[in-house]
Amino acid sequence: MLDTRISRRAAMLGAGAVAAWLASPARALLQAVGKVTVPAFVDDLIRRMTLEEKAGQLSLMASAWGGGAALGLNPPGNGSDFQQQVNEARQGLLTGVFNGNGARMAQILQTAAVKESRMKIPLIFAADIIHGHRTIFPVPLAEVASFEPDLARRTAEAAAFEASGAGIDWTFSPMVDVARDQRWGRGVEGGGEDPYLGSLFAAARVRGFQGADLKSNEHLLSCIKHFAAYGAAESGLDYNVVDISDRRLREVYLRTYKAGFDAGALSAMASFNEINGVPSTGNHWLMTDLLRREWSFQGFVVSDYTGDEEMIAGGFAKDGRDAARLAFLAGVDMSMQSGLYRQHLPSLVRSGEVPQAKLDESVRRVLALKAMLGLFDNPFRRIDVKRETARSMLPQTRALAREAGRKAIVLLKNEGELLPLPRSGKRIALIGPFAAGPHDLVGPWVVYGDDAKAVDLATGIRGALADKSALIVVQGSGVEEPLAGGIDQAIAAARQADVVILAIGEGANMSGEAQSRTEIIVPPPQQQLAEAVAATGKPVVVVLKHGRALALEGAIANAQAILATWFLGTETGDAIADVLFGAHSPSGRLPASFPLRSGQEPYYYAHKPTGRPNPPGELQPYKAHFRGIPNAALYPFGHGLTYGRIEYSGLRLSAPTLPMNGTIEVAATITNRGSRAAEEVAQLYIHDRVASITQPVRELKAFRKIALAPGQSEIVRFTLRPSDLAFIGPNGRWITEPGTFDVWVAPSAESDGVHGSFDLVA
Ligand code: NOJ
Repeated sequence: MLDTRISRRAAMLGAGAVAAWLASPARALLQAVGKVTVPAFVDDLIRRMTLEEKAGQLSLMASAWGGGAALGLNPPGNGSDFQQQVNEARQGLLTGVFNGNGARMAQILQTAAVKESRMKIPLIFAADIIHGHRTIFPVPLAEVASFEPDLARRTAEAAAFEASGAGIDWTFSPMVDVARDQRWGRGVEGGGEDPYLGSLFAAARVRGFQGADLKSNEHLLSCIKHFAAYGAAESGLDYNVVDISDRRLREVYLRTYKAGFDAGALSAMASFNEINGVPSTGNHWLMTDLLRREWSFQGFVVSDYTGDEEMIAGGFAKDGRDAARLAFLAGVDMSMQSGLYRQHLPSLVRSGEVPQAKLDESVRRVLALKAMLGLFDNPFRRIDVKRETARSMLPQTRALAREAGRKAIVLLKNEGELLPLPRSGKRIALIGPFAAGPHDLVGPWVVYGDDAKAVDLATGIRGALADKSALIVVQGSGVEEPLAGGIDQAIAAARQADVVILAIGEGANMSGEAQSRTEIIVPPPQQQLAEAVAATGKPVVVVLKHGRALALEGAIANAQAILATWFLGTETGDAIADVLFGAHSPSGRLPASFPLRSGQEPYYYAHKPTGRPNPPGELQPYKAHFRGIPNAALYPFGHGLTYGRIEYSGLRLSAPTLPMNGTIEVAATITNRGSRAAEEVAQLYIHDRVASITQPVRELKAFRKIALAPGQSEIVRFTLRPSDLAFIGPNGRWITEPGTFDVWVAPSAESDGVHGSFDLVA
C-alpha cells in the first residue's frame, strides 16, 4: 500500500528521484541525530518554483477553520477565512497552518496543496502540543518537579501519539527557557530555574516527541523555543528586553537550547525579546553565527507569532518590508502569521536586497524537513479521521497522566505528620475555589484539552474515601474576587470537620503568556479565606494550584501541611488524592525556589555570594539581605519531603584531589528512618571557593532518585570530572581552574545534607 502511494507521489512530482531517494542508503542516514540530508528531488523542485511559491514555503499561518484556536490563543492577528486559506494552499502561498482543527481540516487543506497546487508540495500542520493533546499531562514546569527526565520523554511520546493521530506533524515544543524570575508567567511552560536540570528535560522531551524516526505517524517534529533567553526578560515582564552578559547567556540561558538541539530537534522558534538591543528575530549573531556556525544546527527557524512584524514597534525595522529583510537575513527561515515573507521576499530578491541563493537555502531546509517527516511519501500519513478518535484519551494515556501528576506533586511541609490522611474515620472539609468543578484543571497553554474531561479534586478525594459522605465541599472564595457569604460557609464547614483541605492558589489564566505578576502571592480574597479557616483551629492541608513558585504568607505559610500541585491536567483529582491518602509517597522536588517575599525576585538558588554574605543565623547590618528578610528561600530549589524520614550521612570522596585528567567519586549514605516507603532525590551541588570569575554559592551537578523501604539505606555514588567544574573565564572561553571546591550531597539547594571538599589540581 505504502509503496503504491510512494510511486504515485513520485509520478506526480515528475521526479523518479523521489523513489530513488526512498530506497537509498542516504535515507537511513537521514535520521542520524540532528542531521538533515536533502533528497535530490528537493533541488529539482526548487529549480522549478517561482519566487512567490518559494516565499509561500516560508509562510506559516494560524488555522482559520471555524475561527481557529490559534487566533484565540494568540494576540488578534490577521485572521483569514478558511476558504481563503484553502485558496492560498492551492496557489502555493502557504507552507502549513498551526493550531488547526484536526484531521478533517487537515484533509481539506492537504488535498488543495497536493492535488490542486502547481508544485504539489505537501503542507505541514503544526500545533502547540505543550503538555498533551487531548489527554493533558502536568504543565511542563510541574513535570520537572519529578526530577525524572524519562517521565517527560514518556509524556511527550504519548502526546505525540495522540497529536500525530489528529493530523499534526510538528509541535511548538519544548519550551526550554530558563526562568529565574517567578513574576514572569511563562516559566510554567519550561524547565525551571536550573540549566542542568532544564537541559535534561529539554533533551528528554525532544526524544519523546521525535522518536527514532520522524517519518513515524506516531511522532512529531519538535521545536526548541523561544530562542533565546526569553526567560531573562527584565523585571519578569513578558516580552520585555534582555540585557545580559555573554557569560551569563552561555553559562545559564543557552544551555537548555543546546541540549534540545543536541538531542536532535530540527526546528527552532525565535523569541519575542531583544538581546542587548537586537531583537532575536533580527539577530544575525544569534540565528546564524551562533546557531548555524558555532552549533551546526541543520534544521529551520520559524519566527514566533508576528515576531518579525513586531520589530517595527520595537524600533528595529522601519516597515514590513524592512522587517522581512532583517529577519530573513538574520537567519529566520520561516515567518509565522505576519505574512511579511510572502508579501515582501519575492520583491526583496528581485531588487537584490536578499540573495536568491539564501532564499533557496531556507526553502531547501523546509522541504528537507517535510521529506524527513514523510510528507512527500504520503502527505496524508498523519491525517486519518478514524485514527484521531481511536487514539484519543486511551486508558493507558490517562494512566500515564495520573502517574505524571502524582510524581509532580511536592510536599513542602508536613508538621506532625498530618499527611497522609486516613481513608476513613475523619470528616474532611474541602474548601476553596479549586475544590470542585470543571475549571482550572488542564491549566495554561492547552489547545485541545478539555476541563470537562478532567478529574477535579473533589471527585478524586471522594474516589479515595471509604465513606463518601465524610467529605463536605465549599467554594469559600472566587480566585481573585471574594464570594458573597463564602467565608461564613467555609468556617461552618471547617467547624464540622476533623481536617480541612484548602484548595487555593492561581487560576489557569494567571500564568502563561502575557501573565506577569508583580506579586507572586495567593490572591488576597483567598488569603482572607485561609486566615478565617485557620482561626477555627482545625488542622489545615493547603493544596496549592499554581503556574510558578509562589511567596506564601500568613495562614497559608503556617498551615500544618502544604502540597505544591501546579496544574496537573486530566488526572488532577486522582493524582492529588493518590498523594493525600498515601497511595503514593510524595516524590517531587521544587524546580524553582519559593522565595520568602515577592520582592526578592528574581530569586534563584545559584546566586553569587556577594562581598557581604550574611553568615548563617541572625540578620546582620550591612550584609546582603532585604530589610528583615534573609537572602534565602522559604522553600528552595530541590526541596520536597516524603512520607518517610530521610537521613543523609557518611559523605565519602574517593580522593582528596581531582587531577585535571581524572575523576573523583562522591558517595553518601541515604537512609529512610521512617515507617513508610519513600523516594528521595539526592542532589549533588558544588561551589568553587575562589575563581578568576566569582562563582555561584551552589550549582547542581548531578542527582539520583532512589526508592527506599522503611529502614533501608542506600549509598548513592556520583562521578565528577574537571569539565563539570568549568565556567566561562576572563577570556570568554570555558575553562577549569585549580582550587578548592565544596561539595554537598543534600536534599535541596539550601540544606546542609552532607558536605566535604576537594582540590582540583593541575
Ligand atoms: C506565541 C507563543 O509565544 C508561542 O510559544 C506559540 O508557539 C505561538 N504563539 C503559536 O501559538
